[in-house]
Amino acid sequence: LPADSHRARPASSLIKVQSASGPYSVSVGAGLLSRAGTHPLLRDRPCFLVTSPHILGLHGEALLKSFPRAQRPVVLLVPPGERYKSLATIERLATELARAGAHRDAMLIPLGGGVITDLTGFLAAIYQRGVDYISLPTTLLAQVDAAIGGKTGVNLSEGKNLLGSIHPPRAVLADTTTLATLSPREFRAGLFECIKCALIRDPALLSLLTRHRESILAPASHRDPKLLERVILASIRVKASIVARDEHESGERMLLNFGHTFAHALESALNYRTLLHGEAVAYGMLAALHLSAICGLLSADQAAEAGSFILSCGPLPRFKLSPEEVIAAMSRDKKHTASSQRFILLSSLGHAHVISGLPPSRIRAAVRAMLATGMKS
Ligand SMILES: NC(=O)c1ccc[n+]([C@@H]2O[C@H](COP(=O)([O-])OP(=O)(O)OC[C@H]3O[C@@H](n4cnc5c(N)ncnc54)[C@H](O)[C@@H]3O)[C@@H](O)[C@H]2O)c1
Ligand SMILES: [Zn+2]
Repeated sequence: LPADSHRARPASSLIKVQSASGPYSVSVGAGLLSRAGTHPLLRDRPCFLVTSPHILGLHGEALLKSFPRAQRPVVLLVPPGERYKSLATIERLATELARAGAHRDAMLIPLGGGVITDLTGFLAAIYQRGVDYISLPTTLLAQVDAAIGGKTGVNLSEGKNLLGSIHPPRAVLADTTTLATLSPREFRAGLFECIKCALIRDPALLSLLTRHRESILAPASHRDPKLLERVILASIRVKASIVARDEHESGERMLLNFGHTFAHALESALNYRTLLHGEAVAYGMLAALHLSAICGLLSADQAAEAGSFILSCGPLPRFKLSPEEVIAAMSRDKKHTASSQRFILLSSLGHAHVISGLPPSRIRAAVRAMLATGMKS
């Protein structure tokens, strides 16, 4: 793998993300929550914190104490879980905002994982035709993925994220100390999205991850905060650079879906149980690496090297599915109708391309290779 160029560069903790509605800054670092309440964008604005009881208990005190006494936010609570990422929750929260007297100058503040971030972002997009929000993501997945890029939304029972809007935040504060209370499994699931960023765009990040894998995966009390910060910053830079050029996913943004066609099929075939999204992405990347190799784009050695690195960041839960079940789920996926099935493939570790028109036999072979790894014996 290429040498690590991150070491020479001082870790900046601020990234500017360009969006059609103006740039916003993403700060990454330890202790940001305990300074958040005095953020210049919050001055003289009525603030509404949206979070879950559990996260409020873990991280709310430091945040609430950071607000000037006269400006403590109103707290709106959402139970944890993907099933609360719904229109019913939006309606309830909007009603609570209205009853609390929230107007156009309201500032919403989601504190939580991707569910809270997506939900609050969508609420901000439609409450009084749009209010501002500042994201405080508390899972690794939300810090490197859900909080970046402006996609917001909720699920319908017919499918995930079927309602939504592009409504970027005014700022993102990713406090790395919040990750200490995340379960190791949720942490690893988020790390697979960092690995995805490295594989599609950043060989230096891949090198950093492979060389420091043990330290990154160590229990939270043994983690090196600066190292984690570098991983998060580099992953955000990959996503930010891609969405800056393609906010509405007409082209380049598709690269962020590396492994996701297979991952979405696995998640849906397993009824969204068994695997966390990041774990499904890990399996999906194994399939995409295999596909890249059998299409002659990526060398078999590089595919094997990346595949074993992904597996070394496990354990991944095992499951039981047939290739037919996965293929059927792939053809049901809204983004991948049979006529225009597009895949993100690698030509080398760190370089991704959108490829369409692949023969079904190769896709089957990739699914079989993925299932051979994931199958419960
Ligand atoms: N908008 C986007 O671009 C985008 C991108 C990727 C994912 N998403 C969405 O993100 C969601 C998944 O996000 P997620 O993986 O963060 O899941 P999540 O929000 O459900 O969080 C996972 C669990 O961790 C808990 N938690 C959160 N922070 C914690 C902390 N610091 N300590 C302890 N527990 C904590 C939560 O309460 C929850 O139980 C999905 O709905 C997905 O669609 C959106
Ligand atoms: Zn993902």
